[in-house]
Amino acid sequence: MLKSDFPIFANNPWLVFLDNAASTQKPQYVIDGVSEFVASSYANIHRWLYSLSEKSETAYHHSKELVGELLNCKASEIIYSYNSTYWINLIAQSLVVSDVLKKWDVVLLWIWEHHANILPRQILAQRKWFSIEFLTINDEYEIDRNDFDQKYTDKVKVVAVAQVSNVTGKIYDVKKIQSKLREDTFFLVDGSQSVPNFPVDVQDIGCDCLVFTGHKMMAYTGIGVVYVKKEWIKKLVPIIRWWWTIEDVSIEWHTLAGNSDKFEAGTPNIIWAVSLLKALEYIKKNGGMQKIREHEQKLVKECLEGFKKHQEKIEILWPVNSDRIAVFSFILANNANFNNIGETFSDANIAIRCGGHCAYPLHKHFKKAGTCRMSAYVYNDEKDIAAFFDVLDWLIAA
Ligand SMILES: Cc1ncc(COP(=O)(O)O)c(C=O)c1O
Repeated sequence: MLKSDFPIFANNPWLVFLDNAASTQKPQYVIDGVSEFVASSYANIHRWLYSLSEKSETAYHHSKELVGELLNCKASEIIYSYNSTYWINLIAQSLVVSDVLKKWDVVLLWIWEHHANILPRQILAQRKWFSIEFLTINDEYEIDRNDFDQKYTDKVKVVAVAQVSNVTGKIYDVKKIQSKLREDTFFLVDGSQSVPNFPVDVQDIGCDCLVFTGHKMMAYTGIGVVYVKKEWIKKLVPIIRWWWTIEDVSIEWHTLAGNSDKFEAGTPNIIWAVSLLKALEYIKKNGGMQKIREHEQKLVKECLEGFKKHQEKIEILWPVNSDRIAVFSFILANNANFNNIGETFSDANIAIRCGGHCAYPLHKHFKKAGTCRMSAYVYNDEKDIAAFFDVLDWLIAA
């Protein structure tokens, strides 16, 4: 996965792109694949009686097959929508409508959650009278087991957690969390920062549900994925309905489809689904997720060495000896204004992100108003990391 595969870099020759945790660039393979699909095979899908629609549906379904391969589940357990946020919202509402989550029940979340996994629950909790408990972390950024044992009471019906913090880059052991849960607890994993960066196996984790978003792994914006375990597809009630999600409609009521189709309301994101198909093909052609992981680990090593030089002059939100992805959030001891730091990087054509990264509770936990975040991906190389540290060295010396 070379930089030359990504036209953004030919069109912006000085760009050092280190804002990949927010969104990734698109390879020519994806751009061409989508254009070719739209130019030669596009039509609306479902209930087709002509070959163009059949071709379109085949591509749509193939996209789900590749996602199934990626996550080690069946294509029929994969459902598409717009992004992770949209899916977390829909599932949160569905858990209420399906009576999984009732008055006085409890949802457990962790302090590092992205707002996407907090806000939908807060608004529902207020109206439906369930409560949300946040679990904290210890000084090593690890899950506090005593806190978990105390808060995981019989009232907890839903546990939801991000597998990787989008601020610290730390990978959490979601399989271990799952092993502590009762059967009646619905377990959702937010894979927004994990699925793009290393192999994730939903069978191995044992989760009931996992969401991720295509634009963070080289697909276009507008394609969000949810894996829902077969048993839960039957139990959960969709909150958005239309003709494809039902079996029959009369003027009194309607009966729902029994499979995952019941969750895909309206004309689906066919073109965006094809962009995900192309991104997954591109990853496969280039050595798969393990290759991405290996490349990133090299970058992680380089970053850790670079940051280590400035240990006293920089405050970093990270677990030192931990399994992680290439995401680093920091502030400088001599300049707490994270926006100014971001602008200096921008002046040097280096794209990083500054602010609360939609994780205000974690920043509050660390008593920070915000941080600068650099995040690397498949096309970044040692020159990019060196360019980043040249600017950081200069800022620290200033
Ligand atoms: C951990 C995590 N969850 C959810 C999201 C939301 O993703 P999207 O904006 O694609 O819905 C993000 C995006 O940064 C994220 O990092």
